[in-house]
Amino acid sequence: MKVLIATQKPFAAVAVADIKKILTEAGHSVDTLEKYAEQADFVKAVAPYDALIIRSDKVTAEVIEAAPNLKIVVRAGAGVDNVDLEAAKARKVVVMNTPGQNSNAVAELAIAMMIFMARTQLTPATGSEVQGKKLGVQAYGNVGRLVGQKAKALGMKVCALDPFLTDEQIVAGGAEPVHSVEELYAASDYLSIHIPALPSTIKSIGYDLITRMPKGATLVNTARKEVIDEEGLMKALEERPDLKYVTDVMPDNYAALQEKFGLRVFATPKKMGAQTSEANINAGLAAARQIADFFATGNTKFQVNKW
Ligand code: 3PG
Repeated sequence: MKVLIATQKPFAAVAVADIKKILTEAGHSVDTLEKYAEQADFVKAVAPYDALIIRSDKVTAEVIEAAPNLKIVVRAGAGVDNVDLEAAKARKVVVMNTPGQNSNAVAELAIAMMIFMARTQLTPATGSEVQGKKLGVQAYGNVGRLVGQKAKALGMKVCALDPFLTDEQIVAGGAEPVHSVEELYAASDYLSIHIPALPSTIKSIGYDLITRMPKGATLVNTARKEVIDEEGLMKALEERPDLKYVTDVMPDNYAALQEKFGLRVFATPKKMGAQTSEANINAGLAAARQIADFFATGNTKFQVNKW
């Protein structure tokens, strides 16, 4: 089978080499399309391929239509909001992710961002310490749990909200369970967001929730920019000069936020939570193994668009 690694933001070279090794040893051919400038370049490239390995690359209905042989897409990572799951399902294209494989990298970045903001973006201004502060984790999945555990090691108190987990599971994961999003925001000196971008979560964090946060609080977003209501965020930061926002997913209104709030806001220019060699190797190799196994045995364990 023909496999394309399509990564606008490429994997580390060592990960690409090992992905190729796994797939060629399994009898497949592998090409790469890296750092492409336009979505049209991706659409143009996919025609001959049976399988795609992607990151945040957008597998739209147009991409699926342009790839008549396509049988499987593996998103090396967690979020599949960049894949048109319905269009894939309609064509019986299996879509998988590689859950947990890049979680540690994202969790480390969330912690780094908290400390970066506590220390006023490493400027000489007097900062604060995270020890003794309360961290609220919104969704206690693979990333959220690691953030909670690392925060505890820093002496933070940790609470978490996750509608898919029981209180016992949250306690076993090292956090105090919280039962509503309002309660979570009201309790959190630092609030780390780990919810996916879904119709039900898009723009779900806005003025009302953000202004519930205690004095001096920081909102940390290593999830998706779409879950923030940017107008609400702007209004909250305007009204509450004590609040801060740090994000790994640059908001559309970042220039305006920076101009108005200076060191109270920070965004990475490109999503970099999973941008470590370790995460690239873990997620990339898992994707390669899942594709090899799918073609060899039909294994669809990590399929996210079941039919
Ligand atoms: C994910 O959903 O796995 C992360 O957001 C990482 O995305 P990336 O592979 O584009 O860095």
